[in-house]
Amino acid sequence: MTAGAFPVRRPRRLRGTPALRRLVAQTRLHPADLVLPVFVKEGLDEPRPIGSLPGVVQHSRTSVVAAAREAVAAGVGGIMVFGVPTHRDATGTGLDDPDGVLNVALADLADAVGDETVLMADLCLDEFTDHGHCGVLDARGRVDNDATLDRYASAALAQARAGAHLLGTSGMMDGQVGVVRTALDGAGLADVGVIAYAAKYASGFYGPFRDAVESTLVGDRATYQQDPANARESLLEVEQDLAEGADVVMVKPALPYLDVLRRVADASPVPVAAYQVSGEYAMVAAAAANGWVDGDRVMLESLLSIRRAGADVVLTYAALDVARALHGA
Ligand code: PBG
Repeated sequence: MTAGAFPVRRPRRLRGTPALRRLVAQTRLHPADLVLPVFVKEGLDEPRPIGSLPGVVQHSRTSVVAAAREAVAAGVGGIMVFGVPTHRDATGTGLDDPDGVLNVALADLADAVGDETVLMADLCLDEFTDHGHCGVLDARGRVDNDATLDRYASAALAQARAGAHLLGTSGMMDGQVGVVRTALDGAGLADVGVIAYAAKYASGFYGPFRDAVESTLVGDRATYQQDPANARESLLEVEQDLAEGADVVMVKPALPYLDVLRRVADASPVPVAAYQVSGEYAMVAAAAANGWVDGDRVMLESLLSIRRAGADVVLTYAALDVARALHGA
């Protein structure tokens, strides 16, 4: 059959063999584009599994270093470190204490793997506050934006001095990137960068993460994280974070927000990251455990989709497994 005077167009021609498909693939996954988030819990002797995140653990001080070495060996692009402290208080003092669990882990990791990877720190108060919010509270119990900024400026210095290359400003306070940038520059830490959680939504997909960090939060973060209904607002957040000095901007969650990711990628002159969050990972793991989907295949497809939508860098709990699979290991 022909279409008019011309032979029918045959897109299938380029799908005929694996080699043809490989040659013309427009998006690729590479271990170097992936970042592995890790949890370090104070006082643990052995890693402890996280029930709602199959295959992911709370690390001990020593096991996190071993995990980082494995990630480096597999060519994973970076590591994002979260701390789970034993003590929590109203202002989250453990976040900027050099002896706090996160800063100790960062220092250990910087010693062990140094510049062989990109070491990132979650610059957020929620794991360290007794109320579980990403900021300090005012007299009426509301998150006080500007009082929180002082906390982030101080914690940024602690994380940078512990050895982080990039600080992940995930608290969603207005002006957070700017105060962090100013504090770093003023302390002679101009080389330390900011990976801004620019478009971060108030999401139910963070559920398993709350287990991973043993969150004490009651209620939600809707007064500071974005409303899932809003896409254009992300451009405002990105624009502001760029003006304040963000080196990388991030969209989070990833798969339910691919439209936002595409808009941000089209608008951003700096690298764009996306975070495949705990609930996204857990849904794949749960369906795979039931035999309802092929977990490896669905994971690769999800990550490819996130890259296709415009992410240069993808944070995923599957980073190590995927990196190994991509190497054919
Ligand atoms: C804040 C933070 C959260 C996540 C990353 N950083 C939780 C939140 O904002 O409520 C969630 C990541 C995930 O679900 O995997 N410290």
